[in-house]
Amino acid sequence: RTFLKCFYKNLERQDVQAGNKVSIIGTGMAGIACAMALVSRGISSNIALHDINQELCEAERLDLLHGAMFTSTSKINKCTTVESTKNSRVIIISAGARTTGKQSRLDVAHESADIIKQVVPEALKYSPKAVFIIASNPVDVMTWYTRELTNLPIERCFSSGCHLDTARFRMYIAKQLKLSAHSVDGYVLGEHGDSSVPIWSSVTVGGVPLIDIKANIGSDEDSMRWSDVHQNVVTAAKQVISGKGYTNWALGFTIADIVSAIFEDSKRILPLSTNARGICGIQDDVFLSLPCIVNKCGICGIVYPNLTEWESDKLRNSAATLLKVQQSINQ
Ligand code: LAC
Repeated sequence: RTFLKCFYKNLERQDVQAGNKVSIIGTGMAGIACAMALVSRGISSNIALHDINQELCEAERLDLLHGAMFTSTSKINKCTTVESTKNSRVIIISAGARTTGKQSRLDVAHESADIIKQVVPEALKYSPKAVFIIASNPVDVMTWYTRELTNLPIERCFSSGCHLDTARFRMYIAKQLKLSAHSVDGYVLGEHGDSSVPIWSSVTVGGVPLIDIKANIGSDEDSMRWSDVHQNVVTAAKQVISGKGYTNWALGFTIADIVSAIFEDSKRILPLSTNARGICGIQDDVFLSLPCIVNKCGICGIVYPNLTEWESDKLRNSAATLLKVQQSINQ
């Protein structure tokens, strides 16, 4: 049966923006963490920053510029104007509303949508061939909204989705087993948020599927309480927010990892937010995380997840939750 869906018939014909310029729109804590991760990992040698708060943006630019001489990043463009983002290969949208401790990511959808509406079409004018990675919460809904506003091709409009939740998931499983997170495989799919779905059937440790050892892993009947691991993933951001008011470093590294996967034309499979119509009985254009194949054009395909009934139900539930919020946004 089909297990891969490819977006292109002929990959070589895709028109990719030359260079490795990355622009970050929104230089709050999240945006600047993306810049920091990109600069420190040497992923792009040409970075532009843009924010409606010109004074803040200029200060962040200077601060990065002063440090960049210790890195391989040669160019930090003059910021504050959207023109400085011209001809970007990748644009990271990190302008949006911040959630407070009591709010869920979905609670700030309308506030973020207003900002997305202002910044995305303008950025696209200057970089018509760019890959847009949406990092503004709620990321799934904002990616759907960006697509509605711009009609960008599906491969060039996606979000970091559950790539971060997946990293947290692997980390907590590894902690439980006292092993390295690098030796734990497995995905979190669905919403980057409270309705995310831990795909327990995908978890392998040293090549051994955990579900073979414990059939009811992650369910309410599981006496070992593996469900707590997913609960930790869901509350991870809240825990950080209660201490410092926002999360940023982990997101920054997550975004930098996606950009490197694009620049390396890696074909790595990452859980990113894309249109899930047709997957697991989802019938609407709703954006959530699925295992996506990343190449030089952005997302070039999806792996159809092979889910248990419990996981499919949860994924459809996540889709329904997101659809409701999508529908509440005035276009
Ligand atoms: C987090 C934010 C990025 O999970 O949603 O840290």
